[in-house]
Amino acid sequence: MAAMPSFEHILTETDGHVATVQLNRPQALNALSGALMDEVVVALEQFDRDETIRAIVITGNERAFAAGADIKEMANASAIEMQQGTKLGQWDRIRKIRKPLIAAVSGFCLGGGNELAMSCDMIVAAESARFGQPEINIGIIPGAGGTQRLTHALGKARAMEVVLTGRPITAREAWAAGLVTKVVPNEACLSEARALAAEIATKPPIAVQLAKDAILKSFDLSIEQGLDYERKNFYLLFASDDMREGMAAFIEKRKPTFKGR
Ligand code: CAA
Repeated sequence: MAAMPSFEHILTETDGHVATVQLNRPQALNALSGALMDEVVVALEQFDRDETIRAIVITGNERAFAAGADIKEMANASAIEMQQGTKLGQWDRIRKIRKPLIAAVSGFCLGGGNELAMSCDMIVAAESARFGQPEINIGIIPGAGGTQRLTHALGKARAMEVVLTGRPITAREAWAAGLVTKVVPNEACLSEARALAAEIATKPPIAVQLAKDAILKSFDLSIEQGLDYERKNFYLLFASDDMREGMAAFIEKRKPTFKGR
């Protein structure tokens, strides 16, 4: 696998089958500048191609996962510059990552930060996490999926409250609403997210990716279309070595060894 390029705004790390991408602009509460987002996308795409990696954790620091898009970068932008720029295209590339993404969220998780966390497949939240879409306070609305993904997670009434008031919700409120997978003590946030990633990394990788793919399709398709889509992914897995291995291991009463083939 090609070496990871050196980055200015993020840190990357691997441990076994689990990769971690840490947002690293602490002086700006990890505000998602264009340069930072470029690096996140490059790292995610490289880990997605790396056969040794099976799950990816995205995290920030104790104070902030990310406080949103970089307001200082956008303050003077015109509509056409925003439309012509590549900034929002980066989000489409994150959507195409096939391996499971787990956000480990402490502190501020606002605006584009919340949209990045919601672009992940699961969120492990520290007690300190605060999830919000405060764009309304600066004259805009969420532009990277907030109105859509938050509404799917919270339902219309609560999504309206969060987006129209700009007021964040707590980790426990987010958990009760189904936005986050689990809430953990502050100091355990990253380790719990990595443990979840490591557990998933023991599973057959192609099945994991096709399960993620089918679950995400449920947001776009009717139940009828979704059931057909799921079934095709299910059939496809009968072409994998890992399916033979998984079933043989069950019958022979031994642990399977999955290879991602
Ligand atoms: N963009 C740029 N810089 C930011 C930032 C952002 N989104 N959020 C924080 N910072 C910077 C601050 O300007 C400050 O920098 P200086 O020290 O150079 O002044 C530094 O980070 C620390 O921030 P504060 O001093 O404001 O820290 P605080 O503890 O007093 O407040 C906060 C924390 C409530 C999160 C506050 O920083 C804040 O409200 N941030 C903006 C949140 C926001 O509006 N996010 C949405 C952005 S728009 C968006 O995301 C659009 C989209 O959908 C894609």
